Amino acid sequence: MIKKAKITGTGSYLPERVLTNQDLEKMVDTTDEWIVSRTGMKERRIARPDEFSSHMGAAAALKALAAAHLDASQVDFILVATLTPDCPIPSTACLIQKMIGAPQAGAVDISAACTGGLYALSLARALILSGTYKNVLVICSEKLSSFTDYTDRSTCVLFGDGASAYVVSSEGRGLAIEQIQLGADGEQAELLVIPGGGCRQPTSAVTIENRLHFIKMSGNEVFKHAVRRMEAACKECLDAADCKEEEISWLIPHQANVRIIDAIAKRFPHLPGDRIYKTVHKYGNTSASSCGIALDELLKTHTVHPGEKILLTAFGSGLTWGAALLRAE
Ligand code: ACO
Repeated sequence: MIKKAKITGTGSYLPERVLTNQDLEKMVDTTDEWIVSRTGMKERRIARPDEFSSHMGAAAALKALAAAHLDASQVDFILVATLTPDCPIPSTACLIQKMIGAPQAGAVDISAACTGGLYALSLARALILSGTYKNVLVICSEKLSSFTDYTDRSTCVLFGDGASAYVVSSEGRGLAIEQIQLGADGEQAELLVIPGGGCRQPTSAVTIENRLHFIKMSGNEVFKHAVRRMEAACKECLDAADCKEEEISWLIPHQANVRIIDAIAKRFPHLPGDRIYKTVHKYGNTSASSCGIALDELLKTHTVHPGEKILLTAFGSGLTWGAALLRAE
């Protein structure tokens, strides 16, 4: 029998506090009309001060394990995709390993910004297909509000907090991960950065004064790359899987901006608009977590029949991008 890596359970977690466009109007020089027309966002979630990426990730992970009917003690390996770890060391994966009670699991963080979820899924798939492990827990968790400059109107309206998780297993029923295409371009690294806080510009009074510990983005440039790269990744992924656009039931793009999503949708004319899943209006851009939050919501609100195919695509700092083709069993 051909070995497969399957998503046998998904989970997500969103903090309770809602930050609306009207709230942002009171914080920076912006309007609800500008934010909705330029991004499609109406509100986003913000974690409590004492709620971190580890807490949100653990909450999403426990839901994914319950959905997969798997005990935490059966998890062999934990991969956490985050650009907002609790701290540089230890990894957020180790903190979550303790929180969920999986002491025998290896645990590591990976860094690929908004594409982190797809990079982690790809690694999980490889670990399963190689026979190294049976059950890998992929967790995406972001507390972007800690790295967002709420005096910078060009970025602060975009980001929200939240987490998602996937159980990837060799056995059981679920969504088979048929194909994943990934890419990166370090030549464009400067387009989307948090410049301070690393060894290049360690945290100091000067980095804080210059607000280098916050996300800086060349929005226009990132927008163009995002559309181009996600379209190409989707097409490469479909080609590699010998799958036609018409065979796709759902497209779940990274929820960075509704205009980016609509621009990608135009490049897939056979896919009806209501088959492109969106959460951007209510959660904003939750970076690595976004595709997983949308997939979890889709699976909870719609029936996905055996044989149906779902295409995920993401794009982020690095630059990084990717697409993953899933097939329901
Ligand atoms: N409210 C009102 N006006 C604003 C706001 C705001 N919140 N933000 C910017 N503006 C102004 C600008 O100052 C500018 O004014 P000017 O013309 O007087 O200079 C004007 O609006 C237009 O600004 P643009 O930056 O050209 O606006 P644009 O239409 O490009 O939208 C946006 C900006 C929403 C950031 C868009 O470029 C975008 O979504 N980019 C991609 C983001 C993305 O994909 N990120 C993915 C990766 S995220 C990650 O990896 C963490």
